[in-house]
Amino acid sequence: MRRYPCPVPRVLSCIQPTGVVHLGNYLGALRNWVVGQHECDAFHGIVDLHALTVTDRPGVLGTSTLELAATLFAVGLDPEVATVFVQSHVPEHAQLGWVMECTVSYGELSRMTQFKDKSAKREADFVSAGLFTYPALQAADILLYDADEVPVGEDQRQHIEITRDVAMRFNGRFGDTFVVPKIVTPRAGAKVTDLQEPTAKMSKSSNTDAGIVYLLDEPAAILKKFKRAVTDSDGEVRFDRAEKPGVSNLIEILAACTSRTPQQVAGEYTQYGPLKADAGEAVVEILAPIQHRYHELMGDKAELSRLLRTGAEKARAVASATLERTYTNIGMLSPE
Ligand code: TYM
Repeated sequence: MRRYPCPVPRVLSCIQPTGVVHLGNYLGALRNWVVGQHECDAFHGIVDLHALTVTDRPGVLGTSTLELAATLFAVGLDPEVATVFVQSHVPEHAQLGWVMECTVSYGELSRMTQFKDKSAKREADFVSAGLFTYPALQAADILLYDADEVPVGEDQRQHIEITRDVAMRFNGRFGDTFVVPKIVTPRAGAKVTDLQEPTAKMSKSSNTDAGIVYLLDEPAAILKKFKRAVTDSDGEVRFDRAEKPGVSNLIEILAACTSRTPQQVAGEYTQYGPLKADAGEAVVEILAPIQHRYHELMGDKAELSRLLRTGAEKARAVASATLERTYTNIGMLSPE
């Protein structure tokens, strides 16, 4: 169901402003967003309300939000083309989020592996109810924009599946209201793993920085991280995620950076050393112009804020119409 004429598919995807963006975010998601903005009607949110599930230090979130905005424009999102906005600037997210909490079941939320992982990691810490109901807010983020496609990394698959289930359940109960979105993942880079612990995904919440390549890392630091990447002792270069996770991760990163398939890359190496060095060089090369633009953009914070205000206005125009349609279809009493 769509209430506006839209000649091209609508895409929506979001990222949390928790810490510096890493190579997994870039290869798994952001790079696809940049390409997608020219083929689709693109909406991209900086989801600060989601970050509240794990944020307890005052005064940090606003700065991270602005830095993330600079990063998104630096990687190539064009504010004239894509709609880039901050989630809390569009109040309809929280409003539809509640409707989604009432549409998803406790059992469905209990099966989310991200909740299990994150709550286990925070064992001795505070585990908020928001961390548990997070996928309901994520479903709202997506459904508010009538998104046809959601470009994300592999780790978000379960959250997109639950969004589809919830959309179909709602449409079944209250009539055609939401577009049921589909997940889009990249050919290479959908699951970048930690260079020190190659069976775990590269993640902002890892214990050590040695296995994470940040978008703003200096070239020397990047090369060092690749040089020290954990591999295995059998010495054979082969793409095999299950048996050779470390080597396969390096192959996939190099493939993603040079637009080749992992199999093509694997065929070109017989030793780990050159593979590590070339993967590191390829990453340095791809990140250099991004870092340069990031620092330029951070020099004009007022302009960044202006771009985000424009983005929020465009986002609200779509989101408010969807929320109104939702309330109408449920049959809630209108204030007018
Ligand atoms: P977040 O902020 O953790 O990550 C942002 C994007 O980066 C991808 N990603 C990865 N891809 C490949 N390898 C990795 N190691 C890796 N780590 C992260 C993620 O898949 C994601 O696409 N819940 C979401 C944010 C969100 C969202 C949404 C996404 C909120 N609402 C609506 C899409 C649509 C999250 O925490 O992503």
